[in-house]
Amino acid sequence: MPDTEGGASRLPRLEDLPDPSGKRVLVRSDLNVPISSQREIEDDFRIRSSLPTLEWLTERGATVTVCCHLGRPKGHPDPKYSLDPVRRRLEELAPGVELMENLRFDPGEEANDQAFVDRLVEGQDLYVNDAFGAAHRAHASVVGPPARLPSAAGRLLAAEVDALGSLLEHPARPFVAVLGGAKVSDKLELLRTLSERVEVVLVGGGMCFTFLAALGHDVGDSMLEEDQVDACRELIDSGGRIVLPTDIVALGPGDPGEVRQVGRSVPDGWSGRDIGPATAAEFADEIEGAGTVFWNGPMGQFEDQRFAAGTETVARAVAACKGFTVVGGGDSAAAMAQLGLVDRVGHLSTGGGAALELLEKGDLPGLAALRSTSNAPRASEGG
Ligand code: 3PG
Repeated sequence: MPDTEGGASRLPRLEDLPDPSGKRVLVRSDLNVPISSQREIEDDFRIRSSLPTLEWLTERGATVTVCCHLGRPKGHPDPKYSLDPVRRRLEELAPGVELMENLRFDPGEEANDQAFVDRLVEGQDLYVNDAFGAAHRAHASVVGPPARLPSAAGRLLAAEVDALGSLLEHPARPFVAVLGGAKVSDKLELLRTLSERVEVVLVGGGMCFTFLAALGHDVGDSMLEEDQVDACRELIDSGGRIVLPTDIVALGPGDPGEVRQVGRSVPDGWSGRDIGPATAAEFADEIEGAGTVFWNGPMGQFEDQRFAAGTETVARAVAACKGFTVVGGGDSAAAMAQLGLVDRVGHLSTGGGAALELLEKGDLPGLAALRSTSNAPRASEGG
């Protein structure tokens, strides 16, 4: 694993803060939760996951103000992205904790504008970053405050770094990575990193079709990133064990189209929507026998019942695995939640892009900023 603690300082934890009693603490959380068109929270996992830090601080007599983003409102106020529903839920779960309005209503947040950082930290004594899901963004609220206030990683951020770090530091073998989701271009770098470190990478989801095309198969109207075909071929040739589907559940032309299992080649006019049962069984065998599993991305279009079986089989295999399992990314986490399997995962990450980037690069801008804060312990101090 690239060194997640990196450099001369280690990540400061809550215990490394000056006594928070009577202090004002700014907490950056990632409460970017799915909200329905009726402005109701669809899944409050990220809000609940942020509570241990808030409780730790309030129990010690701190006055806590939380800041976070919601969606991508493009630097100006937009009622569609107001944090009101999140504020209501947070009031129920953490009474007395204040929540600022969506940070991304101000262009200074994404631009990491220093005047915006000044406004954020004004009147605050301490800063805690608990926003693992946003720690890969070098935005003002993520990287700015540690240069101005004594700072620390919250409980969630620290737990995420520990769990994801352990995946690449001393993983129990065999280590199986399962990657799905739509786009291979988003995950190519991670695939390269992982293929050197794991025993096998199982590839499903929309991204498998670019690999199958690289092997010379017809993919019909399936998702294909033509500009990534050569990169996929290079990865296959590079020697890591990359396992691709041997059968596919495909949707035919027309409305509603016929659904049929095909082999590795998808006929003209048809599109692959899920891995087939033989592939799902093979993936499940690999997963259940693993010492370590990392899963990111659904195996198919699982929100449509006709194409949910592959993702469900993988989710059940992850739950059945006796090794250490980590599931990252909103869709894979949602699949575990829908199947009631959340309690059977070693670590369910609240980060999608952040989890991938941490595994790929071994560090994130938000972690580097915390390690540079004035109260960060020297690496030799352990912990
Ligand atoms: C996420 O949902 O992955 C995080 O909250 C980051 O959101 P962003 O991709 O809009 O920066």
